[in-house]
Order: sequence, then structure tokens, then C-alpha cells
Amino acid sequence: MCGIVGYIGNQDAKSILLQGLEKLEYRGYDSSGIFVVDENKNGHLFKEKGRIADLKKIIETDTFCTVGIGHTRWATHGRPSVKNAHPHQAANHQFTLVHNGVIENFLELRETYLSDISLSSDTDTEIIVQLIAYFAEKEQSSTFEAFKKTISKLKGSYALALIDINQPDIIYAAKNKSPLLVGKGESFNAVCSDAMAMIQETNQFVELMDGELVTLTRDEVKIETQDGTIINRAPYTAEINLNDLDLGTYPYYMAKEIDEQPAVLRKIIQAYQNDLGQFQLDKDIITSLKDSDRVYIIACGTSYNAGWAGKHLLENLAHIPTEVHLSSEFGHNMPILTKKPFFIFLSQSGETADSRQVLVKINAMNFPSLTLTNVAGSTLSREADFTLLLHAGPEISVASTKAYTAQITVLAALSEAIARENGIAGDSNMAHELGIVATGMESILSEKTHIEHLATEYLRTSRNAFYIGRGVDYYVVMEAALKLKEVSYVQTEGFAAGELKHGTIALIEENTPVIAIITDKVTAGHTRGNVQEVNARGAHSLVIAMEGLEQESDQFVLPEVHPLLTPLVSVVPTQLLAYYTSLHRGNDVDKPRNLAKSVTVE
Ligand code: F6R
Repeated sequence: MCGIVGYIGNQDAKSILLQGLEKLEYRGYDSSGIFVVDENKNGHLFKEKGRIADLKKIIETDTFCTVGIGHTRWATHGRPSVKNAHPHQAANHQFTLVHNGVIENFLELRETYLSDISLSSDTDTEIIVQLIAYFAEKEQSSTFEAFKKTISKLKGSYALALIDINQPDIIYAAKNKSPLLVGKGESFNAVCSDAMAMIQETNQFVELMDGELVTLTRDEVKIETQDGTIINRAPYTAEINLNDLDLGTYPYYMAKEIDEQPAVLRKIIQAYQNDLGQFQLDKDIITSLKDSDRVYIIACGTSYNAGWAGKHLLENLAHIPTEVHLSSEFGHNMPILTKKPFFIFLSQSGETADSRQVLVKINAMNFPSLTLTNVAGSTLSREADFTLLLHAGPEISVASTKAYTAQITVLAALSEAIARENGIAGDSNMAHELGIVATGMESILSEKTHIEHLATEYLRTSRNAFYIGRGVDYYVVMEAALKLKEVSYVQTEGFAAGELKHGTIALIEENTPVIAIITDKVTAGHTRGNVQEVNARGAHSLVIAMEGLEQESDQFVLPEVHPLLTPLVSVVPTQLLAYYTSLHRGNDVDKPRNLAKSVTVE
């Protein structure tokens, strides 16, 4: 989703901004732009639809600029186009602005203040910059005052960076709900949507809170609240390894990230185990969870699917009743809660707006919360009572793979730590079992060529597909279907195997691919029966079964692992099926159409 960078220093701002925007590409975008100011205080605006590579082609290189702002846009108000791309300028060209978020009252603001101005885009963002110019002129106020006044009128979410061409040694910034960080360096300062965008320049970042306003010069960062209180907040060190951002010899990040999963599992085991090789987590988290009567897992997309496998673990290992909810539904349609709920937010990015709006409500109700995230210092981590990190390393591919398995792994560690504290763990040793899973994942990954053949045989040219499974396999097929549809654009549904015959079987035609996952011996026979039913109607079935439950006709056999951990292995061939289908269809695997990585609007 939209990404912001801003730089003020002594180096070439154009290349720093472009590098930053490239680092933000993974968030998903459809157009981009930069605004830079040269030594003679002339502003230069460049905007282009499409990729950063297209933007680079139109940027003039003959001026040296040391201040500027840049943006990747993921369209919300107005189609992807040059006119709607950011930065946007006021009619008098004095002010230039980039924005991430959604202004809910932009129509009202336009009618109230800007009816005389002819707008040059369809965006809500342009209203903000025109409004700054309006207040600066009408009230003869300073830029800062006009910026502040404009912000006080906005309803919705925003991260903003502003340049006044008459004060080219300052960048103004502000945020509400949308993420924004300040990057601090030797004789330069920066703003960015996430630390990755500026990690090449600095690893020192200051978090900003909602409602804060920032004035950046080359040497100083001033943060203040709306009422003028100055905030002194120390920077933190972002621990991002630049090598993790490197593709190496991989053609796509999705392929790299699928391959990284065994290593991620081992990292998690190491991070959360004690000297006895048992999982031991922060005592306060365990106490708070022990004290609760129900866990509510709140998440979106792939993280939501991981939540279902998490429910299976929390209920079976820790014996805590657990519900799983979509953030976008839960916040506005909250079920009746138990007396002592405990909330677990699952979010790779830690910035998902749908999840954050739930956390804000939960905090207002004083319920305890824990965020499982891959990004230390992210909004959902800061605002929850507790955080457990996924230790998965940056996930760049829009389609989430290693974050899914990392979330389930951390939930397994958490479930066992609670069980041990409650004296019900017996001789279970999940750290050991997860080590077996990591090895199992490696053996699946060594069969990529076979899976690539299956992808071309079953999915390369099909219009639609079904995944079916029961119990925990049903949880996995929901994720398998999401993965396939988002990167290959094959319309895919993940179905409870027994449910197909209650309606959806009407969609089975000659050669419709139906992929069954079978890892549970209790339901294996039933699911096989469902495979027979679809085969009898012409389906092209593909069975992924666990060792010990396999039949000769099955197309893929999974290594046997602990029954509660089967999602961690059964999901891997489905990730690879999605990857190879996308690849063979000629899609941009890492940046599927219409999708964004960090979804910072509701
Ligand atoms: C799918 C995918 C999305 C995310 C969802 C939540 O591959 O990546 O469905 O899982 O947008 O994102 P996070 O986990 O960052 O809250």
C-alpha cells in the first residue's frame, strides 16, 4: 500500500528517494513520484504510472537536489494515473505533499473551503494540500500553522510529508493511524513508511504517535503534539540485515521465502526455548493468558488462516477455548465477549489498519492483548500489551508464506508454554517436534521439480480450482486457496471436504482441478470418499497425503510430523503449486495485480 519517503541532507536526494521507493515496492503500488528542490530553490516534480523503473526514465539527472519527498501510490480515490499519482501540489505550486491513508471527509472539506479551486486530480490527498494553501493565504499564517490547522480538520487516516518551496530547508510531517517513522543520520534526517526504505542510510529511527507533528531540517528533528508539547523520544536501532533484502540467485522473493521456512522455524525454536530445550515465554504473557477464559484471535488474510491452525494448537495443547475472527468484521460487529477475554493479533507487518482499529477498541475496553508480528516496533506491537516476534526476516513477496508458518510455530511455542505452566504438558516437547517439521519441510522443498510438474499439469491453464480438506486440513486449504488465487489469478476455493456435496459440487466439470489434503487418520477415509465423488463428476483430482495415510495413486506424500503440526508441512507443496502456476502463467509473482503488502487503510 502507499509508501512515503522524505530526505533532507547533503547528498543526492533523487537517488536516495528512488532507492527508498524501490525498498517500498514490496508494499504494492500502481504509480509513483518524487518532488525535489535544487540549490537554486527550484522545485522539480516527476510522476509516472506503473513501476519505479518507469519513473526513473523520466527523471532529469542534471540538477543536484538535497531535499525531497517521494511516494508509491496504491489507488483508493481515483484510478492509477499520472494525474492521481503523488506528490500533489497546491494550485499556487507553493506546497507539495505526499499522503498515505484515506481522508473520509474530503468531499465535505472541498465543499466548505475549496469550491473556488479547480482540482487537478481525483484524490483525497489533493484536498489536503489545497487546504494548507487556503489557510496559509486566508489567515496569513505560517506554513506550520496552516499545516496544523489543516490536520485538525481531517477525519480519517494519514501519514503526510510536506514541502513549502519558500522554505526548502524544512520537511513537515504528521501522522494519524497510518505508519510513519523518522530516520536520523549524520547531517541528514528522513521520514519513511517503514525502516526498510531508509535502512541503506541509517538504522536509527524514531517512532511517531498519532496526532504528532514533525519539523525536520538537516540537523534537527522537532516532534510536537497538537497542543505544542515538545516530545523527546529516543531513536531505536532497526535490526534489518541488508542481506535479507537481497534476492541472491532467486528469480522471485516468493521462491526465496518459501525456501527460508525451515531456517525460520529453527530460529524461532532457538529464540523461545530455555536451557532444557523447552519453550519458555515471557512470564507476564503466560500469567495473563492463564487468567483469561477465552482467546480471541484477530487477523486478516493469510494471518487469519494461520489463526485457525493457532486455535487448533491453543485448544488441544493449552486447553484454552479460542475463537478466530476477521479484523474487518470483528471491529464493527463485535460478538458478545466472555468475562475475561485475551486478544491475540496476528500480523506479519504489524501495520494492518483493519486489525489496528480492533486493537484501539480493545485497549479502550482494557482487555489484555498480545501481537505476534514480524516487525519490531510496528504499530500493533507498540499498542498491544505484549509482543512475540516471528523472527522470519523481512517478507518482501506480497504473497505471504514464511510469515504463515512462523505464526503457527510461535503459537505452538506459546500453547506449549501455557500447557507446561498449567501442568498439562506431560512429556510433550514441541521444540523437538518442530525440529522434525523443519527437516520435513526440507524434504518437501527437495521435490520442487515434481511439484512444478504438478502445477503445469493441473493448474497452468485452468480457469478455476478447489482445495478440500477436513479439520486442520480444512484450515490449510483455506490458505492454499488464497495463495493460489492471489498469485495465479485462478479462481480457487478452499472447502470443507464434506461440505462440497451440499451445493458447490455443482461447479465440478470435466477436468476441474480438485486438490485434497489428507493428514488426519480419523477423517482420511471420509475425504477420500469426497475425492471419489468429484472424480465421478469428471474432476482432475490431486491428493496430498501424509506418510502412513498415503495410497499408491496419490500425487504427493508428506513426511509424517506431530499431528498438531501438520499444517506446517502440508502448506508447503501448496505454496509451491501457487508459485509455479504463477510463474508458468507469466505473472509478476512477487507483485500480483491489485494487491498491497502492508494494508494500511480499512
Ligand atoms: C496474503 C497476504 C495477506 C496478508 C493480510 C494481513 O498472502 O499476505 O492476506 O496476510 O493482508 O497482513 P498482516 O499479516 O501484515 O496483518
